[in-house]
Amino acid sequence: MRLKRGENPVAQLRRVFCFWGWKMDKEFDLDTLAVRAGIRRSQFNEHAEALYLTSSFVFDNAAQAAARFSGEESGFVYGRFSNPTVSMLQERLAALEGGEACIATASGMAAILSTVMALMKGGEHIVASQGIFGATQQLFGGILPRFGIDTTFVASNDPAAFRASLRPNTKLVFIETPSNPLTEVFDIAALAEIAHAGGALLVVDNCFCSPALQRPLDYGADLVIHSATKYLDGQGRVLGGAVVGREELTEEVFKFLRTAGPSISPFNAWIILKGLETLRIRMEAQSATALELARWLEAQPQVVRVHYPGLPSHPQHALAKRQQKSGGAIVSFEVRGDRATAWKVVDATRLISITANLGDTKSTITHPASTTHGRISAEARAAAGIRETLLRVAVGLESVPDLQADLARGLALI
Ligand SMILES: Cc1ncc(COP(=O)(O)O)c(C=O)c1O
Repeated sequence: MRLKRGENPVAQLRRVFCFWGWKMDKEFDLDTLAVRAGIRRSQFNEHAEALYLTSSFVFDNAAQAAARFSGEESGFVYGRFSNPTVSMLQERLAALEGGEACIATASGMAAILSTVMALMKGGEHIVASQGIFGATQQLFGGILPRFGIDTTFVASNDPAAFRASLRPNTKLVFIETPSNPLTEVFDIAALAEIAHAGGALLVVDNCFCSPALQRPLDYGADLVIHSATKYLDGQGRVLGGAVVGREELTEEVFKFLRTAGPSISPFNAWIILKGLETLRIRMEAQSATALELARWLEAQPQVVRVHYPGLPSHPQHALAKRQQKSGGAIVSFEVRGDRATAWKVVDATRLISITANLGDTKSTITHPASTTHGRISAEARAAAGIRETLLRVAVGLESVPDLQADLARGLALI
């Protein structure tokens, strides 16, 4: 492939340094895309996707090396830029999210950082929902200001509050929906309209739903972020992240990634690629269990409040029904008492793992105020509604009675 005269230089880089697979998204359903999209077979014609565990690629001769480096010839060059296994993951995830392109990254936080670094400069501004993941809050509120990028955190999920926070220099509106850990649901279509009217882009962290339950690009979002560490792998094995959306935006992310290096390992990409094959089936089963558990928790006298979008008591239940295929697999609940009573429930578990990760087939439990959200200030935590009595269960594939029994043991101590 030769350089095209007049071609956008970033598009040219991406075209030259990555192989983009067969575009299947318009033709097939999500279930088919999950197992077939992005496949690129080697000369051996293997059926399963191959793992290309190599840091660089060999050139036929010096002239070809020069042509690859200058971008005159397409092909893989070096693992920081691209890798065939990574390309397969990117193709498949782009197809599942209904996006033009995807850039995979080393972690979810690397995806968020790469997006900011690729699309923003000092002096610009982010509007973000208050209830986002703790490390994202730290990045936006604690680190980016050092580089002249300020963030306004919006404490409400009312689109009007987001509109009121926009400034002429706002570049990104960033939300997580449902949010971590309170499962607050945000109106993607309304926020896309508001962001666009203000000249900003809407970025949605789709970690909690995954494309199996929600496709933010269909509602007007510009970019979708993933911590692939969560449901996309789905089995708690590797870290990974991704940015999905229009090529003109992902090209900028790619330009940052190939230079700065928050690239995903091909091994991790291969694991996540295979995880995608069972994504819809896992999400459906885990969501069904989560709904049953949420209903049961709501009936327990020691439980003050349950946060689950699939329950009619959830403040944005109607919106969640419109935007999501189900309530998802995260159930948060507040118990009577204080931090000590919440910890009792955690410590009484024998089955549910006490671990910070979520999105695993094995259920996990955390006390957000002292773990995932422990590094943000007490005021910020209070503003985000993360109380000392809050617990978050990421529901896996175990049976409902076994999960209920595991939580009932701790609740009985309150
Ligand atoms: C909603 C959300 N976004 C982003 C991240 C960060 O992902 P990673 O741990 O892969 O960097 C997490 C991690 O828990 C998360 O829950």
